[in-house]
Amino acid sequence: MEPRAAADEVVEVATSPPYLVRVGPGALAHVSAACGSASGVALLVDQRVESLHGALLDAQPRLRAAPRLSLEGGEAAKTFGVLERALDFLTDAGLDRQGCVVTFGGGSLGDLGGLAASLYKRGVAVVHAPTTLLAQVDASVGGKTAINLRGGKNLAGTFHQPRAVCADTTLLATLDPDELRSGLGEVVKTAMLAGEATLARLEVLAPALGRRDAAALTELVAACVRHKARVVAQDPLERGLRRSLNLGHTFGHAIESVAGYGRVPHGVAVAVGLSLALRAAESLGLCSDPDYPGRIRALLQALGLCSSLQELRRELGQPLSGGDLLAAMAHDKKGAVGAPELVVPAAPGSVEPGVRATAEQLSSWLA
Ligand SMILES: NC(=O)c1ccc[n+]([C@@H]2O[C@H](COP(=O)([O-])OP(=O)(O)OC[C@H]3O[C@@H](n4cnc5c(N)ncnc54)[C@H](O)[C@@H]3O)[C@@H](O)[C@H]2O)c1
Ligand SMILES: [Zn+2]
Repeated sequence: MEPRAAADEVVEVATSPPYLVRVGPGALAHVSAACGSASGVALLVDQRVESLHGALLDAQPRLRAAPRLSLEGGEAAKTFGVLERALDFLTDAGLDRQGCVVTFGGGSLGDLGGLAASLYKRGVAVVHAPTTLLAQVDASVGGKTAINLRGGKNLAGTFHQPRAVCADTTLLATLDPDELRSGLGEVVKTAMLAGEATLARLEVLAPALGRRDAAALTELVAACVRHKARVVAQDPLERGLRRSLNLGHTFGHAIESVAGYGRVPHGVAVAVGLSLALRAAESLGLCSDPDYPGRIRALLQALGLCSSLQELRRELGQPLSGGDLLAAMAHDKKGAVGAPELVVPAAPGSVEPGVRATAEQLSSWLA
């Protein structure tokens, strides 16, 4: 079946208060309306995105007139220094407590802007207009905000749900291929969690996604957002169920850290993490669908992602030794030191969370 026509889809996140995520080729045109009756609006924008797509914001009079702070994207945005600049900017913009911050950029800008909004005058509204695939399917929904500390990524942050999210899939046309691949890794993870229907659609639409077909992107981003919305509504503060979203991440974080941060895009590392989690499932006898691992590996390949650790090692020309990966996993912040907690995939839509493996088992999967 071909992708459906590229009309916007709207997903509700049933937190209190609830909010809407609009996904599709017309989503950006709704940013001004999404700010609602805000007394004032201030924009935090990724400077690369501004140079590529800033004119689209200017089409909305309230946004054209709003004060705008342009910031370097990527992890450079997630520092105390930039947070201070953003807070000073909101002060200079004269934003009061009924004001609204708009972020226009990837997950980095969203994390920084969300944190600034949650701190400024003890919390003002934020509307996210995410511009990367990763931010559209993951970072912009759920209210987690953060900056990095010397001791690690995302160590200082808050929960601050947005007032609305406008995820315009046409913006993804200008993403670097690696950034697209990174988002696709998270899409595979989410489809594995969402279950058979989403996974089967992803298999059908994989070639169209690679071509950045707008209808295919809209359908899949909306499906991922729908799943994340369900999880976030049930567990807004990540006390339980939301941990399932870490599927592939314990291995993925170790790969990112051993390769050297920035060398392997997050979602590309997560994709390899998914293949390792499947290996764990098979080895521990937790995989209830014998076709599942092969199916996911084929899907990863169809999307241009590495489907095994060996393949990533070849692509990077780096050893990524099992010993180094094991040591990095022992320090993963999501698990107790020394005994990393794994989310293990059993079948489409079914995971076993909180699985602890021995060092010997981990070593054999990471060989
Ligand atoms: N809050 C959450 O729940 C959550 C979830 C996942 C990830 N994150 C965070 O998100 C961050 C990663 O975000 P990201 O992957 O979206 O990347 P990013 O925001 O770091 O941006 C990556 C690069 O893409 C560029 N870019 C952005 N949009 C573009 C476009 N449309 N066209 C061309 N270039 C564009 C940026 O300028 C930057 O150079 C990490 O810091 C991670 O911790 C947060
Ligand atoms: Zn992730």
